[in-house]
Amino acid sequence: MPVTTRREGTTAYVTLDFPPVNAIGRDTRQGLIDALDWIAAQAGLERVILSGAGRAFAAGADAREFDGPALEPHLPDVVNRIEACAVPWIGAIHGPALGGGCELALACRYRIAAPGASIGLPETTLGVVPGAGGSQRLPRLVDVSAALEMIQTGRPVTGVRALEIGLVDELSEDPLFAAEAVNGELLATRVAVGDLPGPKADTAAFSAAQDRGAARYQGQFAPGVAVELVRLACDMPLAEAMALERARFLELRQGAQARALRHIFFTERGAKAPEWLAGVEPDPIETAAVVGGGTMGAGIAYALLNAGIGVVLLETDAGGVARAEANVEKIVSASLKRGLIDEAGAQQRRRAFTATDDYTGAKGCDLAIEAAFESMEVKRDVFQKLERTLRPGTVLATNTSYLDVNEIAAVLEDPSRLVGLHFFAPAHIMKLLEIVRGTASSDRALATGFGLAKQLRKLPVLAGVCDGFIGNRILARYREAADTVMMDGAAPWEIDEAMVAFGYPMGPYEAQDLSGLDIAHANRRRQDATRDPSRRYIPIADRMVAEGRLGKKTGVGWYRYPGGGGKVVDPLVDDLAREEAHYAGVARRVFSEDAVRERLLIAMINEAAAILDEGISGSAADIDLVTVAGYGFPRWRGGLMHYADTLGPAKVLEQLAEFGAEDPVAWKPAALIERLAAEGKRFSQA
Ligand code: COA
Repeated sequence: MPVTTRREGTTAYVTLDFPPVNAIGRDTRQGLIDALDWIAAQAGLERVILSGAGRAFAAGADAREFDGPALEPHLPDVVNRIEACAVPWIGAIHGPALGGGCELALACRYRIAAPGASIGLPETTLGVVPGAGGSQRLPRLVDVSAALEMIQTGRPVTGVRALEIGLVDELSEDPLFAAEAVNGELLATRVAVGDLPGPKADTAAFSAAQDRGAARYQGQFAPGVAVELVRLACDMPLAEAMALERARFLELRQGAQARALRHIFFTERGAKAPEWLAGVEPDPIETAAVVGGGTMGAGIAYALLNAGIGVVLLETDAGGVARAEANVEKIVSASLKRGLIDEAGAQQRRRAFTATDDYTGAKGCDLAIEAAFESMEVKRDVFQKLERTLRPGTVLATNTSYLDVNEIAAVLEDPSRLVGLHFFAPAHIMKLLEIVRGTASSDRALATGFGLAKQLRKLPVLAGVCDGFIGNRILARYREAADTVMMDGAAPWEIDEAMVAFGYPMGPYEAQDLSGLDIAHANRRRQDATRDPSRRYIPIADRMVAEGRLGKKTGVGWYRYPGGGGKVVDPLVDDLAREEAHYAGVARRVFSEDAVRERLLIAMINEAAAILDEGISGSAADIDLVTVAGYGFPRWRGGLMHYADTLGPAKVLEQLAEFGAEDPVAWKPAALIERLAAEGKRFSQA
């Protein structure tokens, strides 16, 4: 039963019980209606305590229902009946009370939360707005600027913060127990939130919300609608405003953005070890060796420390050890300063960390992750040492971004121990983890990679061996398409603007300036020997490197960064592109923003289709996860392949043919696209 009821004396208990997180679907709504009918038939009740079984109060509307029509009974009716109930309800919130869960709590006369509970209206993160009075009741209860921020951003607050802003009335480690103790007379005098007056229209709060919208939510509908709904709360009666809120919610939930965000939400939740690894036990990881204490190694070390894993960081000499220690300490103190950890947490991380240049220090470790310099020679040397030092069978992982995992494994006596664990910088923050399966990788080594991802709360995606795996291989095509458009007529900032307008947080050139142009340069040199000579090569980036324009770290790259500050357009770069075009005999032309975008997106889709067809990636959804979680592809477009499906393979093929008329080599369609177009199927069905 998704809702259970019982009575003890003058108290009725209504418990949401739909594992794992009490998502509110039709049966739960019906269960609450039944509970309300049951309560109406009871005499002598003083209070009703609403709580959730398991780890959550309620995770909001069951988003799995959102693809179909809205089913009766509707949540606004349930919520209104709770609020109007003759017996006052108390919300006992021990865990997440989100979306519809928060709306149920708002209908109660009194709310008690555990300090660590998370309470909020995250609907905009799913491309919708509250649909059962949340946007109207929350601003009646808390300051309008706090309500605006919560509803627009979708970010929940903790129980502690909820008390500060007046969203809950009391904090307790045991909210159910505290609900039983609430004074009956006090409870009887409580005014329903819906009967409180609407808030004053606070101009400053609304203009702050507008600025936030312009800065963060370009192109997205729901955050703007959310702000408009809060505005309604200021001057429209509750019932009328709730009807409008409901209409906007229903409209948004069937729209493309909400569908895309739901797709990513469920894809993220589904990111786990594949079926065929079920039953393979991962090695338990209590301590890990990390090789290399640069930015990446230090970030990985900190991610491990965060998960309670002890770290032995291996470096080549005393200087390397000191640098590694400083790099890790920098992250510990920054986390402390930002309030992400407390002093005790910082000390605990420091105690669990050692750096050494003596490999025997890592002897007892349960896993090793190599994050050394990106050179085959260096890596093979490291793995030989690790194999000699660590217990036989201990899983060994390489964090290489491009190098051939099979070639690295070949240096080992037992190559089945090796997998790729490709972290993304900064490794303690970025959620994505590509788990690279070498030809020889054992199931246990792979399962251990997935087990580690779970421990680190990362999103694992299985990838096969190829140059760049899933993400960097697509990135290489993206950059190639951008460079070609630049050579043929667009300025780098125009290309960046086109991609930002699509929803990327920054364009390809600004991103390169941040990461540095030298890494991609080294990669191009590595690829020189195997590059298809019939493929057009754009040398502009090489010129940049030759002139020392390595990006932000040198103060100048595709943009200039005067005084280390923000980016400034540099016409010299445009001159450089013109010069190269002249040498190559290219007649430059004007590209519209759409034309730029289409080329970059279609190039990525084409490469991703090849990746899927070759089995480098197991599913289109995995590619969506990689592009969103690791490469800034707009979440609200659902990831690269979800977006490709909104165009459809036939349209993609048509565009490839159009661009192919200019350059048949670069725009040769992946066989999968031709097949899907012929069969009338989508990428998600590949
Ligand atoms: N609708 C449908 N299913 C939901 C759901 C929702 N609103 N919220 C969570 N689930 C499912 C997840 O898909 C997952 O399913 P699975 O086990 O089949 O993979 C399961 O519940 C557990 O969720 P998970 O996120 O892994 O658990 P958690 O304990 O880490 O986090 C929450 C719990 C509630 C914090 C988190 O699930 C969440 O934020 N949910 C969405 C809340 C939301 O946006 N509500 C508004 C809806 S409009």
